[in-house]
Amino acid sequence: MRLKYTIVIGAMFLGLNMNCQNTPKKVSANLAESMEEGKLIYNDFCISCHMADGEGAGAIFPPLANSDYLKNKQIESIKAVKYGMSGEILVNGKTYNSVMSPMGLSDQEVADVMNYINNSWGNDYGEFYAKSDISKIKP
Ligand code: HEC
Repeated sequence: MRLKYTIVIGAMFLGLNMNCQNTPKKVSANLAESMEEGKLIYNDFCISCHMADGEGAGAIFPPLANSDYLKNKQIESIKAVKYGMSGEILVNGKTYNSVMSPMGLSDQEVADVMNYINNSWGNDYGEFYAKSDISKIKP
């Protein structure tokens, strides 16, 4: 009886301990993985307007690299990718007034592409997004 009890407690402790050690590792591995997926999505869906290095194009397509809009308006940016965007916005002091149609991405794909654009081209924005974080954001 006593031995059994000890084993159960021991197993619980081990489980708890492993959990703690795994947490930070898992997050960074997930970010790298998510960014890899995000890059594929970016190259398929975003690159034609926002360009390979996120620099945007002309007066119509705003930059994502070094974008103060993306940096300061994470929720609005996620909404833009999920639901599309139109009307006047200010990016790095320049006014854009055009339309980005929704691309029909899944919440997981939005999470991956956000993790990619937030952490590429010198950007260090936002936090790590999982599918569940994106699901919570409504129009
Ligand atoms: C057909 C062209 C087009 C495509 C494709 C496109 N965008 Fe956009 N995007 C725009 C335009 C135009 C705006 C500005 C809309 C406005 O003026 O209201 C914009 C705005 C944004 C913004 C907010 C402004 C900024 O520069 O920080 C983000 C973030 C963004 N797009 C991300 C993406 C991502 C991620 C994808 C791919 C999943 C994507 N876009 C695909 C045209 C496009």
